[in-house]
Amino acid sequence: MRLGVIPEGIIDRIALVSGKLPIPLLETFWGIALGSTVITGTRLGVFESLAKNKKTAEEVAKDVKCDAQAMKTLLNALNGFGYLKRRKGVYSLTKKAGKWLTTESHSSMHDAILFMGELFNILGDIETAVKSGKTEDFHSPDKTPEFWKYYIRGLATFARSAGAEIVRRVSLDKNPKRLLDIGGGHGMYSVAFCRKYASLQAMVLDLPGAVEQGKNIVREKGFEDRVRFRQGDLKVSEWGKGYDLVLLFNIIHTVSLTKAPQILARAYQSLSPGGTVVILDSEHTGNEKDLSATSGFNELLFFIINGTCVYPEKDIRKWMTDAGFINLKKKKLLIMPMTLFITGRKPS
Ligand SMILES: C[S@@+](CC[C@H](N)C(=O)[O-])C[C@H]1O[C@@H](n2cnc3c(N)ncnc32)[C@H](O)[C@@H]1O
Repeated sequence: MRLGVIPEGIIDRIALVSGKLPIPLLETFWGIALGSTVITGTRLGVFESLAKNKKTAEEVAKDVKCDAQAMKTLLNALNGFGYLKRRKGVYSLTKKAGKWLTTESHSSMHDAILFMGELFNILGDIETAVKSGKTEDFHSPDKTPEFWKYYIRGLATFARSAGAEIVRRVSLDKNPKRLLDIGGGHGMYSVAFCRKYASLQAMVLDLPGAVEQGKNIVREKGFEDRVRFRQGDLKVSEWGKGYDLVLLFNIIHTVSLTKAPQILARAYQSLSPGGTVVILDSEHTGNEKDLSATSGFNELLFFIINGTCVYPEKDIRKWMTDAGFINLKKKKLLIMPMTLFITGRKPS
């Protein structure tokens, strides 16, 4: 998936095919403009304010305590980007905004958008990072509870939407009893598996800041008896044994190239014979040809925020096979086709 310059009318279309349109300028401007406008609207509570009723700019401004004239300009920008409708000075949500950006919607990405805002703050000055080669430590112990809240709640929002499809796509021979969710943070993927398998108990291993948030999220969902948490460092803590399922969701890209194969080996050791490892990670289309937009940007992103990278599918498959996994099966998810989703089995 990639963002593009999409014509709005016949003249735009002619301009696009003429080859005279300065595409890089438009992509640069609209990319930043769109992202920052939607993040601002979300942060200020504009979509929440309009969730139940249509309103004028003055009414929205009063509701979210902003300047009325400035609010009108923000609403007009959101109207132009297709997030709000505007009729005679009255604004309402478009279908897209109602579905994805209001907290009440079951497919809400509200918290994930807030996390995007924080992520781009952390990403900060890419130029300096590339010049110096100095990277951040995204999961450092000095991160504030506020950081963990944005991070873990943001990812939870996404997991809540993706969980059901993921669980449906993992085929298991028998009902699993024990699940280990490495770096499972919010615990929502564990919750999704527990929803499907009535006898399943899950253990989430994660860093203290994530565990604190995850426990609250799982309690809000009423799964605190079946999804438990353990604080630890996945690189050094004991993972335990006898699991039927091990989830490695968005974890492999958080570790260095030397540590990554060990993660697969440890998953293998934690599983009972016949157990299944499920891997979800950012796609990387390999090092031989051109990269997809996701592969390329995530390489930069994970390097700057964490000093790590996204690994090509070929490498991950090799580490799985080296660890002893068989029956490697790759599937595509509709909710996130730009991910690598692959399962493997420990022989019985
Ligand atoms: C990108 S998030 C993925 C969260 C969740 N698995 C998901 O897919 O939504 C990475 C998770 O790994 C955790 N993590 C990172 N380094 C870790 C470490 N050394 N030990 C344990 N957990 C770690 C983070 O706290 C975070 O919850």
